[in-house]
Amino acid sequence: MGYGRKKARNNLRGKSITSFDDLSISQISNIFEAVPKMKKLVERRRMGKALEGQIIALLFFEPSSRTFSSFSSAIKRLGGQTIEYQNPAQTSSSVKGETLEDTIKTFETYSNGIVMRHFVPGAPRIASEVSINPVINAGDGAGEHPTQALLDLYTIKEKHGKLSGLTGLIAGDLLNGRTVHSLLRGFSMFKNNTIYLLSPSSLRLNREDYSEFKKRGLKLIEIEKESQMPKDADFWYWTRVQKERFKSQKEYEKVKTRFVLTPKLASQASKKTIFMHPLPRVGEIDEAMDQDPRSLYFRNQIRNGLLVRMALLSLIFTK
Ligand code: NCD
Repeated sequence: MGYGRKKARNNLRGKSITSFDDLSISQISNIFEAVPKMKKLVERRRMGKALEGQIIALLFFEPSSRTFSSFSSAIKRLGGQTIEYQNPAQTSSSVKGETLEDTIKTFETYSNGIVMRHFVPGAPRIASEVSINPVINAGDGAGEHPTQALLDLYTIKEKHGKLSGLTGLIAGDLLNGRTVHSLLRGFSMFKNNTIYLLSPSSLRLNREDYSEFKKRGLKLIEIEKESQMPKDADFWYWTRVQKERFKSQKEYEKVKTRFVLTPKLASQASKKTIFMHPLPRVGEIDEAMDQDPRSLYFRNQIRNGLLVRMALLSLIFTK
């Protein structure tokens, strides 16, 4: 990554981020280079100025704890303000049948940008085509979650010092897990990465993504048993089986905790292996794992979620 230059040009100003593919390696570098400055602001309890005078609308059509709050906190820490709409599907004019396009046109007038979570894959992309202001995808159905992948990659880089030449494992719901879809796009941008994909066969990565990532040079190894997991991996990234995407509760019950990260399983991993999860967890990581110093889901990932989003927002909304 181009860390050589003293001050990188801001090539994110005014940009929408609806897929991880909207980002280039140089933009990722710019975001990561801005993180230490954000960390200082937070540690010194200072407000930044990058978003002063700006209002960002948070439109969350699907439930969220971390993503919603970290965006809200990040905007305020940068001196901006928010219009916060959780659950507009029940409380806004969309109940009356208003189209997404019309909702976006309205919020575009009240704000300088939109952070959006929606149950329809591709909805943020449509919003970005309608809106004159930047739109950031905070999760679109089983599609993508690009800012989660940014914080995940930052967490890996912080620990291992690189984003190429990695060996990792991603486990759980690879079919419906949007964080996985963005994260794999991220790994496919860097060289010599090998990712083991552990899931029940019904929750395998969709074939289109699988061949696309392979074409990009990402080495993918699909496995279905714990015994095939890489023991000396740089990371094990666990995910929740996405209950809300299942047609029947029975089908969900069959696979929900097929793969659980327990201290016994973790004892097979090397000392350098870090354990990650985008959260929330619902049984797929044993709580006893929280004490393991290799577990980063409550520590680094959450903290980095705030800092990386601050860095991204400060670059997109710079005046
Ligand atoms: C994830 C999401 O919403 O996609 N959560 C998050 O934003 N950290 C993961 C999940 O819900 O399983």
